[in-house]
Amino acid sequence: MCGIIGYIGNKSINSILIVGLIRLEYRGYDSAGIAVIDQGDLEIRKEKGKIKNLEDLLKNSPVEGNIGIGHTRWATHGEPTKLNAHPHIDCFQKIAVCHNGIIENHINLKNELIQKGHLFRSETDTEVIPHLIEEELLKDPNQTIKDVIPGLIQKIEGKYAIVILSEQEPDKIYFIKNGSPLLYARNNEEGYLTSDIVAVIPQAKEYYAFRDYEWGWITQYELHLFNKDAQKIIPEIKEIKIDPIHLEKGNYEHYMLKEIYEQPDIFRKILNNRLGEKGKIKLNEMKLPNTILGRISRILITSAGTSWHAGIVGKLYLEHFARIVTEVDLSSEFRYRNPIAEGDTLVIAISQSGETADTLAGVLEAKTRFCKVLSFVNRLESTIARESDSYIDLMAGPEIGVASTKAYTSELIHLLFFSLYLSGIKWITNKEDREVLFSEIRKLPTMMEAILEKSKQIQEIAKIFKKTKDFIFLGRYFNHPTALEGALKLKEIAYVHASGYAGGEFKHGPIALIDENIPTICIAPKSSVYDKMLSNIQEVKARKGKIIAIITEGDKNISQIADYFIEIPEVSEYLSPILSIIPLQLFAYYSALERNCEPDKPRNLAKSVTVE
Ligand code: F6R
Repeated sequence: MCGIIGYIGNKSINSILIVGLIRLEYRGYDSAGIAVIDQGDLEIRKEKGKIKNLEDLLKNSPVEGNIGIGHTRWATHGEPTKLNAHPHIDCFQKIAVCHNGIIENHINLKNELIQKGHLFRSETDTEVIPHLIEEELLKDPNQTIKDVIPGLIQKIEGKYAIVILSEQEPDKIYFIKNGSPLLYARNNEEGYLTSDIVAVIPQAKEYYAFRDYEWGWITQYELHLFNKDAQKIIPEIKEIKIDPIHLEKGNYEHYMLKEIYEQPDIFRKILNNRLGEKGKIKLNEMKLPNTILGRISRILITSAGTSWHAGIVGKLYLEHFARIVTEVDLSSEFRYRNPIAEGDTLVIAISQSGETADTLAGVLEAKTRFCKVLSFVNRLESTIARESDSYIDLMAGPEIGVASTKAYTSELIHLLFFSLYLSGIKWITNKEDREVLFSEIRKLPTMMEAILEKSKQIQEIAKIFKKTKDFIFLGRYFNHPTALEGALKLKEIAYVHASGYAGGEFKHGPIALIDENIPTICIAPKSSVYDKMLSNIQEVKARKGKIIAIITEGDKNISQIADYFIEIPEVSEYLSPILSIIPLQLFAYYSALERNCEPDKPRNLAKSVTVE
């Protein structure tokens, strides 16, 4: 939520900041703005709406310079207007600030500053920051911003990543980080600050991810880093390993479609890396030793949104293959319910971004209870990866589309692999059994491709239902989470009401909704609960409800009853959620297009939810 970028180098600032902001746009697109030192003056340009509007403004009202900061906003305090767009400034437009997070005590601070005569122009919490800096600098003209940051950290409460540009110090960008992500990146000639490394590749070659309460400044060639007590820190700079190819849309109209289509190749890569000889699963980066893993008596999974749905499948895998009692909790609930997490409980955090505030809070909570924390993350430089005892790399490559697709299937396969890994440690499955499982898992990429070939058919179905206002999704056992995830995809990008239910729960209430206007999407591949799903379908049919069914290739029973059906290849039921979600991802995508919605940037959403 909210993306920040800062740049110092020799290049013209406009293109660098704009390209960076476009890459960060997934974090919020309510407004965007930049601050640049242009021939010694601090110039601000900002505009409501997407980065495109800011680009248009810059064409009419250009700025030039080699140092600047930029921001793309997901509104928390104050409407998404031009006035509330960042950067925010002090009374004299000498200091500009971009901020990601929430300053919780901003009301008191603002009142105090107004009493002291400060002029506020926006409704944001952020605006207190430039005024607080201004106020402190006024007290002693010999001070620079570095002298006032330790006091500022004491004053402001909440979560923040802040970058500060001052007309008085035109060769530095200051920063402070607590809670929201912020990274330093560089090459031999340029320094960057960014919320996400994707904004600065391929130019930047190395990075450092700031820790909470770290602050300092960057110059063109150097990073000066301090802790809360103003002691100097030597940062451990790492190489950036992300392939820039992931950041291009290629021939696809949207990132979401590209990411859906990337799934077979991502699976090929994952399987190459994870499946070893003789039934061995390779999780090399996972550093928890077998002595600890072998003792686990209970697992608690904490995650949000799509990653929560993956967690529900993960519970089924862990209980089925590793026979370990597993609970799954929404991370926003987990952190406040005083969870019983102690001793040999392993806490698993699942997060594509590795920055979700609630999930991160769950990780920190688990650590205070001395539980081991293993995270499943797609971004290895993320805070959740760093704060966990160990992590598993989802290997999906950066996901740019706001709706999670490829990260979901990568989460599922890694949860399956971890379950099989544990089952090996506990001698529940032997190498030979796992080899049998592997032979089917190896077919997944080709099976995924077979489903993607049906995209025209799925597009047609989306067209037929383009005016429908409500959908019901039904699935059971391994595909109950598929029903939840399919419904979430449709809600978030096509703005259609959709609810997912476990098939068995249907008769306990939701069936009352059924009439000829509310279609039901039934996920009913061949499985141990196939007959139960068939009964659900009959029940909907008997009430004149339309049926769109996801079925196994060649299933004559359901194909005869359903109004529309999409076939997926025959596969073991535990692998079926990895396949059955793909037609639903496509259905949501095409439904969004049919309804003139923008699938990559759905309204009100941001990809990385770094505030509570
Ligand atoms: C839905 C979606 C969100 C995320 C959720 C958690 O398509 O993308 O529901 O799944 O915000 O995000 P991560 O996995 O980054 O923690």
